[in-house]
Amino acid sequence: MSAELNHDQYAVIGHPVAHSLSPRIHQYFAQQTQQPLTYQALLAPLDGFAASVKKFREQGGVGANVTVPFKVEAYHLAQQLTPRAQLAKAVNTLAWQADGQLLGDNTDGAGLLRDLTHNLNLDLKTARILILGAGGAVRGVLAPLLEAGAQLVISNRTPERAFDMISQFAQLGNITFISDQPHTAFDIIINATSASLQQDLPHCETTWISPTTVCYDMVYAAEPTPFMQFATAHSATRCVDGLGMLIEQAAEAFFVWRGVRPDTEELIKTRLQVR
Ligand code: ATR
Repeated sequence: MSAELNHDQYAVIGHPVAHSLSPRIHQYFAQQTQQPLTYQALLAPLDGFAASVKKFREQGGVGANVTVPFKVEAYHLAQQLTPRAQLAKAVNTLAWQADGQLLGDNTDGAGLLRDLTHNLNLDLKTARILILGAGGAVRGVLAPLLEAGAQLVISNRTPERAFDMISQFAQLGNITFISDQPHTAFDIIINATSASLQQDLPHCETTWISPTTVCYDMVYAAEPTPFMQFATAHSATRCVDGLGMLIEQAAEAFFVWRGVRPDTEELIKTRLQVR
């Protein structure tokens, strides 16, 4: 019997999932921290997420990441939720507990926060941050940004969606909808819409960007996204994609499962080109 069969098994479950970078990232973490585990990509049918999770558990799974489009379904499937998953109303990390209960967590916000503060060295305490979008990706990151002291302004194609979200998070800190008044440039603009996936540019006024603005696209992109190209053309001081967030949310999930925090620096610096 191969030694690997005795290893703890993890997976990322999604649809589609073949292009997920999570197996590569977690295998790297496992090697670096010398944790005996295997990590695979599992394609679940669109109407078969719960069944896929059950089957994975029966085959020895002890934890899983959840990606598009199942994060809300995972939130409903989990038997216990961490406070940050409750706030996000979405789950990207599942972990079976010693008593067999399924715990749902959300590490996306922690991943973004760590990328902004630790990797990009940004001070969020007094930062004015504009967030483009009001979907699931935004919901996952609002609480940690507000708790870090940032002033958040939201802009969304469908304002009503943003109003709903703002009213749910207002008690955690300073969060408002973008007004019609002219705005001075923001310290940070985060594109959290899914527009980049369709090579679209979300609405963004040129006056929102100055030569000191950092522009961040939450999408991981081999080539600069339309938003990053727009920001560069309008002299943003720095434009980054979501690779750092992707790696940091994975590191946080790894910590939830294994109690060990992997070092992410080399993986980010080489943009995953380590062996
Ligand atoms: P996710 O979980 O990735 O956030 P979502 O919940 O469907 O997915 O939300 C997608 C977000 O991207 C929304 O804010 C959406 O705007 P609407 O609320 O108006 O739908 C935004 N979005 C998607 N495509 C966009 C586009 N082409 N231009 C601008 N915003 C877009």
